[in-house]
Amino acid sequence: MSELLCKLKILVFLLPLFFLSSVSLGEDNTVYSGPGDNKDGYDTNKYITNSLSLEERKGKKSNLIQYVTLKQLGLPAVEIPDNNPISREKIELGKKLFFDRRLSLNNTVSCGMCHVPEQGFTNNEIKTAVGIEGRSNLRNTPTILNIAFSKFLFHDAREFSLENQVWQPVLAHSEMAMPSFGFTIKKLQLIPGYKKLFNKAFPNEGINMETFGKAIASYERSLVSGNSKFDKWYYGGDKNIVNEKVKKGFDVFMGKGNCSSCHAVGEKSALFFDNKLHNTGIGYAESMGLLKNKKTRVQLAPGEYVEVDNNIIKSVNQQKRKNDLGLYTITENPSHRWLFKTAGLRNISLTAPYMHNGIFATLDEVIDFYNEGGFQNELLSPMIRKLNLSSLEKENLKLFLESLVGENINILIADAISAPVGDLTKDDPNWANDTDMGYNK
Ligand code: HEC
Ligand code: HEC
Repeated sequence: MSELLCKLKILVFLLPLFFLSSVSLGEDNTVYSGPGDNKDGYDTNKYITNSLSLEERKGKKSNLIQYVTLKQLGLPAVEIPDNNPISREKIELGKKLFFDRRLSLNNTVSCGMCHVPEQGFTNNEIKTAVGIEGRSNLRNTPTILNIAFSKFLFHDAREFSLENQVWQPVLAHSEMAMPSFGFTIKKLQLIPGYKKLFNKAFPNEGINMETFGKAIASYERSLVSGNSKFDKWYYGGDKNIVNEKVKKGFDVFMGKGNCSSCHAVGEKSALFFDNKLHNTGIGYAESMGLLKNKKTRVQLAPGEYVEVDNNIIKSVNQQKRKNDLGLYTITENPSHRWLFKTAGLRNISLTAPYMHNGIFATLDEVIDFYNEGGFQNELLSPMIRKLNLSSLEKENLKLFLESLVGENINILIADAISAPVGDLTKDDPNWANDTDMGYNK
């Protein structure tokens, strides 16, 4: 990704944080009360963000362990690994870590700044993730709602447990950029408060590589969200909770649309994914440059765009954007080119933009893509084909997808934003002072 784009992106990303972290008066006495509120000079004043300013970020703590232990309509029971039994203390500690910006090299980026609770635990405002110091990432941030049920993690399925997964974003240069496992652990040990919390959650173990992963994994595992309107109708037998259009949309999903052959629906529960990888042609089309226009519409601020010629963008590129070959990147098996993990569809109306590269902004675009039979390529899944859906069928299909929002979603969001964000306090060691890590003593 180009330096230019990258700078613009970080501007968009950080602007609301800078001047809207509290309710304040502008020079002309305009009251700024939330992110994106001052739309002077924007080409539209319609833009609404789902981000909350720190001022609005109050939240309400809830008892998350219930979502792990009690079965929700439409979902199977959550499997807990033998070596990491769930507990309230672990969930609470994991949540604190998840939103703690001090887990990044310069104390600015937490897990929760890409997996934004009020944006479906993903980021609605950018196609591909932006990490520390505005560094670009290749891929779209997936939601972590219902991640407890995933056998594979990441779009290319390169990880197998939540406990291990946490280390990748922490150490990735383009995400949180911590220099090593040991440095991260040592930094945590130096932050007042963590020692006690780790000892409570992991008696006799304390802060180490394993307990760190186990705590965050426990929080993620508790973000289980079923009992949607669809579940109450299909699994609960409540005939009136969804209308006829939703029911017809479900018929399209299971039948003519062929969606359920990958987004699986079972007799007793439905994850809407199959724990497999498929080639829908998105990765192929991107690799071959089929998704590119001559110009790129660059967003400077919400609602304000400029058209930039791709050659200009290329000319300021420091790094060439790599092709994303999906599972092939991991196995180097040519038949694995452009295979990506099937995404779950629960809460899908909250988690735009869509696909591993965030290429589609709306569910309408996704449905049109499948209706056209994906992007042709030699390895295209045989289950992807032209669908010939009528506009009514497409509309019903979308209404069905929108019925998959979990009942407890607002509770999970409110609980998440009740967590502190890890601002540096007077008691914290000064991280810029390398003697704190034991250097030059
Ligand atoms: C810079 C933004 C960013 C930050 C910070 C970040 N993530 Fe992510 N997360 C992503 C992206 C992008 C992916 C997909 C990456 C890929 O597939 O290669 C991802 C994938 C994941 C997944 C796998 C989801 C799936 O469906 O397979 C989990 C779990 C996860 N992140 C948890 C975390 C945790 C825990 C942290 C903090 C320790 C964190 N993330 C920090 C952007 C971020
Ligand atoms: C051959 C298997 C397959 C079929 C059939 C299929 N999908 Fe998908 N779907 C996938 C895969 C794989 C992904 C992730 C692709 C990626 O990230 O590039 C995906 C992604 C999606 C997403 C985006 C999820 C997100 O969070 O980004 C939506 C929405 C979706 N599919 C809906 C549908 C609908 C509706 C149908 C039927 C018209 C359908 N799918 C048919 C495999 C399939």
